[in-house]
Amino acid sequence: MSFLRSAGDIIGFLLLSLVTIIESMFKAFIPKRYKMKSVAGDIALVTGGGGGLGRLLSLRLANLGATVVVWDINENGIDETVKLVRAAGGTCYGYVCNLCNREDVYKKAEILKSEVGQVSILINNAGIATGKKFMDTPDELISKTMEVNTMAHFWTVKAFLPAMMEKNKGHIVSIASLAGHIGVPKLVDYCASKFAAVGFDEALRMELEADGYNKIYTTVICPYFIRATGMFEDVVSRYNIEFRFLLPLSPNVVADRVITAIRCNEKFAILPGYFQGLLAAKWIFPWSCVAMFLRGLVRDASPEHDQPKKATDNNHQEFEPSKDPNGVLHQQLARRVSSSERKP
Ligand SMILES: NC(=O)c1ccc[n+]([C@@H]2O[C@H](COP(=O)([O-])OP(=O)(O)OC[C@H]3O[C@@H](n4cnc5c(N)ncnc54)[C@H](O)[C@@H]3O)[C@@H](O)[C@H]2O)c1
Repeated sequence: MSFLRSAGDIIGFLLLSLVTIIESMFKAFIPKRYKMKSVAGDIALVTGGGGGLGRLLSLRLANLGATVVVWDINENGIDETVKLVRAAGGTCYGYVCNLCNREDVYKKAEILKSEVGQVSILINNAGIATGKKFMDTPDELISKTMEVNTMAHFWTVKAFLPAMMEKNKGHIVSIASLAGHIGVPKLVDYCASKFAAVGFDEALRMELEADGYNKIYTTVICPYFIRATGMFEDVVSRYNIEFRFLLPLSPNVVADRVITAIRCNEKFAILPGYFQGLLAAKWIFPWSCVAMFLRGLVRDASPEHDQPKKATDNNHQEFEPSKDPNGVLHQQLARRVSSSERKP
């Protein structure tokens, strides 16, 4: 009897899987523009929105009609983002928040709720990298990497998920990295923190689905190196001199992909997309092949590791207002966003 029940379960599972696969294949042919939800009227919180990818996401979300709130430790960066978004006609508020400090996260969350409203799109984007060999990395920097890249996700989600649960509506986005799927020398703490961010997203999604919250979505974004944000400046600039088989990604392309993933309620986005297949192959091929491939992908994640990276310091006095020395890049990006996207 129990054999028949098990066989029935397996057949049921296979049939359901087949239906789901066919449905997904069918949906894949529908152009994404027909599947995109509107974010107009949403309140979107972008952590680390004082520069880099966070600023580009803020500009795009505001341009689509969302009210954007930026959290960062870099006060000048926040001011710059708020100014850029407002200049492009969007609504944006900024708060200094140190994501390493759980109490500060909870305090700023309360202020945000009372001054702006309930967050319906939470983008955990802030991140830092140390770029030293594991044994050369001071304990405090390892802790800080874990706090910003992983633990902060726990505290922000704890602060904003209850309101999403009340309405069964919301979206939680984790900006992780390809380093959340593969190990890279000199990025041991960074990789560990990003693997954790990937696991956080998946387990949280499973829990929300199991509890019946079918309108609270989670998305994890895993990009390869990005040009011009500053985080991996030394490794990225080296790619411009030395040809390698994979060039760093444009920050605009990554930002556009993140917005599409949010608007289509995609579960994950791996950039570049063909890495999705390569990541699956990781578990099939012998380790020596995988290691050879990974070494070709990133020979040295921090060629100038003797110089501490800007992003590892959470003292905002030490941050520059913009990663672009001419200050022109972000203005050009702002113009590009405002002319290429329209509010729905
Ligand atoms: N740059 C890349 O090559 C790359 C590749 C893959 C994934 N990512 C991920 O994308 C995200 C954005 O990266 P980016 O390239 O825009 O980096 P970035 O350094 O330009 O921006 C990170 C932002 O986080 C803020 N921040 C740092 N510590 C903070 C703290 N304690 N509290 C509040 N804010 C803090 C910084 O001030 C900065 O504005 C990160 O999570 C990063 O790990 C980046």
